Amino acid sequence: MNIVYHAKSKTFHLYNDRLSYIMTVLRNGHLGQLYCGARIHDREDFSYFLEFAPRAMSACPYENDRSFSLEHLRQELPSFGTGDYRDGAVEVFQEDGSRLTDFHYVNHQITPGKPKLNGLPATYTESDGEAMTLLVTLRDDLTGVTAELSYTIFRDFGALARSVRYSNKGDRPVTLTRAMSLCLDLPDCDYDWLQFSGCWTRERKPVCRRPEQGITAVGSRRGHSSHEQNPFVVLKRPTADEDQGEAFGLSLVYSGNFLIQAEVDAHSTLRLLAGIHPEGFGWLLKPGESFQTPEAVLVYADRGLGDMSRTFHRLYGRRLARGVWRDQPRPILINNWEATYFDFNEDKLLRLARQAKDCGIELFVLDDGWFGRRTDDRAGLGDWTPNPARLPNGIQGLAEKIEALGMRFGLWFEPEAVNKNSAMYEQHPDWLLATPGRTPSQGRYEYLLDFSRPEVVDNLHAQMAAILGGAKVSYVKWDMNRSISECYSAALPPGRQGEVYHRYILGVYDLYERLTKEFPHILFESCASGGGRFDPGMLYYAPQCWTSDNTDAVERLRIQYGTSFCYPVSSMGAHVSAVPNHQMYRVTPLETRANVACFGTFGYELDLGRLSGEELGEIKKQVAFMKEYRALLQFGDFYRLKSPFEGNTAAWMTVSGDKRRAVVGFYRILNTSNDAYTRLRLRGLDPDRLYRIKGTEACHYGDELMRAGLITSDSTAGEQYGVVKPCTDFISRLYILDAAD
Ligand code: DGJ
Repeated sequence: MNIVYHAKSKTFHLYNDRLSYIMTVLRNGHLGQLYCGARIHDREDFSYFLEFAPRAMSACPYENDRSFSLEHLRQELPSFGTGDYRDGAVEVFQEDGSRLTDFHYVNHQITPGKPKLNGLPATYTESDGEAMTLLVTLRDDLTGVTAELSYTIFRDFGALARSVRYSNKGDRPVTLTRAMSLCLDLPDCDYDWLQFSGCWTRERKPVCRRPEQGITAVGSRRGHSSHEQNPFVVLKRPTADEDQGEAFGLSLVYSGNFLIQAEVDAHSTLRLLAGIHPEGFGWLLKPGESFQTPEAVLVYADRGLGDMSRTFHRLYGRRLARGVWRDQPRPILINNWEATYFDFNEDKLLRLARQAKDCGIELFVLDDGWFGRRTDDRAGLGDWTPNPARLPNGIQGLAEKIEALGMRFGLWFEPEAVNKNSAMYEQHPDWLLATPGRTPSQGRYEYLLDFSRPEVVDNLHAQMAAILGGAKVSYVKWDMNRSISECYSAALPPGRQGEVYHRYILGVYDLYERLTKEFPHILFESCASGGGRFDPGMLYYAPQCWTSDNTDAVERLRIQYGTSFCYPVSSMGAHVSAVPNHQMYRVTPLETRANVACFGTFGYELDLGRLSGEELGEIKKQVAFMKEYRALLQFGDFYRLKSPFEGNTAAWMTVSGDKRRAVVGFYRILNTSNDAYTRLRLRGLDPDRLYRIKGTEACHYGDELMRAGLITSDSTAGEQYGVVKPCTDFISRLYILDAAD
C-alpha cells in the first residue's frame, strides 16, 4: 500500500495489492481522474490516460484549444454549468444567485492511518500501518469555499474510502445545495449495474440493468436508507460472475436520503456519483463553518462478485462495525414479538423465557409494548417508562428474574417515534416533524420526533439511559417504523429547512454514539420495520440489524442472499419463527427454518409453549449446533453458490479462514419427482485438502468438491414409501466439511 505524489506531473497514485487509483492536477487546476482499477505499475507520468480529443460544439475554457473541455474531461469534483453538462458533485448557491464553482488545487497532505469523520459513521483503522490517507485541498476563489477531498487506501482490503469536507473561508454565507461524497468518471460504460431493491418484507433483491446514455439511479427520499433501495450498487463487467471478472462495489456509509447514479454521456464515459440526495437539500455555510459529507466506499475486485462481497464483509465486519461485540459470536436469542405481539404480562414473558432457557437459548428480548400507555400500536411511543400494569416489577425486576434464570435480557426501543396518545406529545407537541399549516401524515399511528433538535435527542438520551443504567440490559433492539413526511423543523428558520433531513440522521447518530459509549457491553441491533435501514451507517453503531420482518424461510433465502452482496453474515438478524408463517402463511419444516437462520445472527421468535416435545427436542439440537458452529458461520468466508432467484434450489457456504472447516447450506424450494442427479460445485476450499463430510463415510478432496461437485441428489426420487423421512417441499440440508488430516 502506498500513496505516491509525482511532483513533476502533479500526479497522485494510490495503490495496494488489489487496486490503483490515479489522479492528476489538470491544466486549469481542477483535479482530474486518470485511472481506477486493478493495480498497475507506478510511473512518473500517466497523462496519456487523459483522453481529450478536440470535439466540435464543446464548451472550452481556453480560446484556440478545443481539446480541453470540462464536458469531456474526467474529474474528481465537477460542478454542473461550467461547461460540464453532466450532473456535478458539488453545487454552491451564492448570494448573487449564481451556483457555479471553480475548485482548483491548493495543496495536499499524505498521512498514515485514517482520520475520524466528526459526527458521522465511517470505516476506521486500529493502527496507522493499516491505511494511508491523502487529503487534497481545492479552493473556489470567488466564494472562498475550500473542499478537502479525503481518500483512504487500505493495506488489507481492495477498497478506497472517500469523503469531502467543505469549509467557508470567504466572508459571505453560501448554501451547499449538492455535496456528493464520491465522483468517479470511468472511461467506458461497458458495465452491468446491479442494484438491491424491494419493499417492506421483500428487501434487497438484486436487480440488473444496463446503463445507457442518460442516467441510471437509485436513491431514497424517505429520510432513511429505505426498504426500497439500498445505498449500495455494483458495476460489473457483463461477463463477470461470482468467480471471475471485474466489479466495482460502491457503498455509502449513510442512513438518510441518498442518491447513487451512473450517467453515461454521448461518448460512452460513465460518471458514478454517490452522496446525500440533493433533492430538497441545502446547507447554510456561514463564514468559518464546515460541512462534512458522509463517506463512500469503493471496492474493486477482479475475481468476481464473490470476491467483491468478501472484501466488503471483511472491511465492514472488522473496520466499520465497532465495540466488544464486533468479533464475538452473537448470543442466541428469543424475541417475544411473533410469540405474543402486544398480548403479554410478566408471567407470560417469564414462561417463555424459562422454556427458552430449557432449550439452551441465551438471551431473552422483550419487544414492543412494555412502556407508557402502550397496549397496541395506537399509544405510548415517546414514554420510555415501563407500564406497571404489565410489568409490576418494572424492567429492573423483569431483567433480574431473567438473569436469575441464567439468561441475558434485551429490550426494544423506538426512540425516534411518538404517538399523539402519549405524555411526550402532550408536553411537547412542537417536537413533531411537521410542516406549518399542513396536516402531518401518520404511519401506524405514529409520528417522528424532530431529531434535528438537540433538546429532543437529549430527552431521549435521558429516558433511555435511565432504563439501561437502572437494569441489567445486555441487548437493545432499536426500531424505526416509518418514513419521514412533511419534513420541517419548528426550530430552524425558513432558509434552513433544507438541512432537516441530514440533521435528523445526525441526531440519530449522536444518540447512538452516546449510548454505545456509555453502555459498551450492550449489543445493539438496528431495525426499521425489518430492513428499512440496513446500511453501513447503522453498522458502525449496531453490529447487527434485523434483516426483514419477513421470517418465512423461503423468502428469507432471497432476502439474506441479496443482503450478502454487501453485508456480512454477522450483521444479519435471522430468526426461526412459527408455522404457518405470520407473513406468508407458508408451512416450512423446522429444520429448514433453522438452516436458513443459522446463516445469520441466530434466534427464535415464536411461542415455544405451542410446540410439541419432539419440536422442542429439535430446537435443543439446533441451539447446540449453533453454539458449536456460530463462530464459523458468522465470521468465516461466505460464498454464494446458487441463487434463489434463478431456480428451484439455492445454496451458500461458509469456509473457515484456515480452510479446514466449512458449512454448506443447500435448499430446495418445491419438491420434484423423479428428478435429475444433482451436484453442487462448492467454492473456497483448499483444492489439495481431503474433507470428511460429517455424518457420512464420504471423504473428498477440495478440488473434487469444487470441480465435480458435492452430490446433492435426493435418493427418494419420487418414491416415498418406506423412507424414514419423506421428502417434501422446502427441504434443506447442511453439509459439514472437516479436514480429514
Ligand atoms: C417492526 C420490527 O421490525 C418488528 O420486529 C417488531 O419489533 C415491530 N416493529 C414492533 O412494533
